[in-house]
Amino acid sequence: MSKRNYSRREFVKQNSLAGLGAVVAIGLTPDLIADYVTGTGAPAVLGGQKLRTKGWPEWPMWNPATDEEQVLKVLRSGVWSRAGVVTEFETKYAKAIGAKRCLAVVNGTNALITALVQQGIGGGDEVIVPPYTFIATVVAILQTGAMPIFVDSDPETFQIDHKKIEAKITPRTRAIMPVHILGLPADMIKIMAIARKHNLIVVEDACQAWLAEIDHKKMGTFGNAGCFSFSNSKNIPIGEGGAIVSDDEAFMDRCYSYHNYGNPYGTAIGEVGSGTIIAGTKLRMTEYQAAIGLAQLKRLEAQTTKRNENAAYLKSQIKKIPGILPYKLNENVTRASFHLFPFRYKKEEFKGLSRADFLKALDAEGIPCSSGYTPLNKMAYLENVLKTKNFKLMYPSEMLDYKKYMERNQCPANDQLCEEAVWFGQNMLLAEKSDMDDIAAAIDKIHKNADKIKNQK
Ligand SMILES: Cc1ncc(COP(=O)(O)O)c(C=O)c1O
Repeated sequence: MSKRNYSRREFVKQNSLAGLGAVVAIGLTPDLIADYVTGTGAPAVLGGQKLRTKGWPEWPMWNPATDEEQVLKVLRSGVWSRAGVVTEFETKYAKAIGAKRCLAVVNGTNALITALVQQGIGGGDEVIVPPYTFIATVVAILQTGAMPIFVDSDPETFQIDHKKIEAKITPRTRAIMPVHILGLPADMIKIMAIARKHNLIVVEDACQAWLAEIDHKKMGTFGNAGCFSFSNSKNIPIGEGGAIVSDDEAFMDRCYSYHNYGNPYGTAIGEVGSGTIIAGTKLRMTEYQAAIGLAQLKRLEAQTTKRNENAAYLKSQIKKIPGILPYKLNENVTRASFHLFPFRYKKEEFKGLSRADFLKALDAEGIPCSSGYTPLNKMAYLENVLKTKNFKLMYPSEMLDYKKYMERNQCPANDQLCEEAVWFGQNMLLAEKSDMDDIAAAIDKIHKNADKIKNQK
């Protein structure tokens, strides 16, 4: 169909013959054919008119007129390894987050590893983590030699259920790694109280939570350290990139040293002339990455405001539809970053239409959507890691019994959450308010036609 907006009569004239042939061919009921011909809203997945033919804001955004000057300057300078532009990015990012210091690194995964290692986390330790996250969170814990211990999710907030943390603390627990997943803040007030009570380190995985806040304090500044990602889909897209923020100067000096082979930096100096002082690695951000980051950072504040406004509006519209349960923000959240917009889909209210078929139907209406994460506490990598030489050296054999490990790490609420979640991407929240109405209308259309979709598949 052409992109021109036809009147209903024109549309019927243009499409009735060919369209009718198509719908008869896929075996629709007379009732659906009637819907189709009169344009009253047969679902697109069954051959009806697509609710939305317009696209969504493209991602990443890039405006040559405003964004390229500094990048080109860097390219032409030949100074491509870490220098002044990376420092400028760190200074501006620290300011945006409200932290004393920021260290830019190659990606979010290595920001997490660096923070954990420089907080002294390693083999023999347990680190508490939610299962509703991207694999990189758990990868970082495993890379230090520590054992991830999963705490169930709160299905309403999609975040770690802070009420279930204390039951998982053992004498080996050294740290909590809360994740502000989807850009919605985990309850840091409650988590920090638990950490203080049990003397635990807190490294926040804020890789999806740029500018998100509780009581106007930014995510990443509650714990001992906060880590961020700037990969391509992220709200500050650099392609690859990451950052650690903290107010702890000595810790940040150690992180700097670690990311630069362990060479002396700031207060991390060792004996004069002693050369490399700690076991480090190389994780330096390049100057051209930082130049891209500076351009993206300029958009972040306004875009975050827009995502918050559109998310609140979309939530208010779709929560009216039976079976759609949008996210709930934790208490005292003053701002989220909405890397994703999540809701739970209850198929019982959609005549038993499966989530997979709901997603297909929604996509067919021109609303891209996804089912999100699968349970990270149940994947093969965990059995594999428990068998490794290093883990055998670092843990007693009863801790390496996979069956026991699985029992200890069950997260039933998260299992159900993973079966019910539906996400929209952050770029969709950068469209206009009327575009949010399209999303709500498409869900409503599927709700009204759930029976037909289920039976006609
Ligand atoms: C929650 C979370 N943690 C960690 C990471 C790792 O970041 P990166 O992909 O930059 O290594 C990501 C991003 O993909 C993430 O979403």
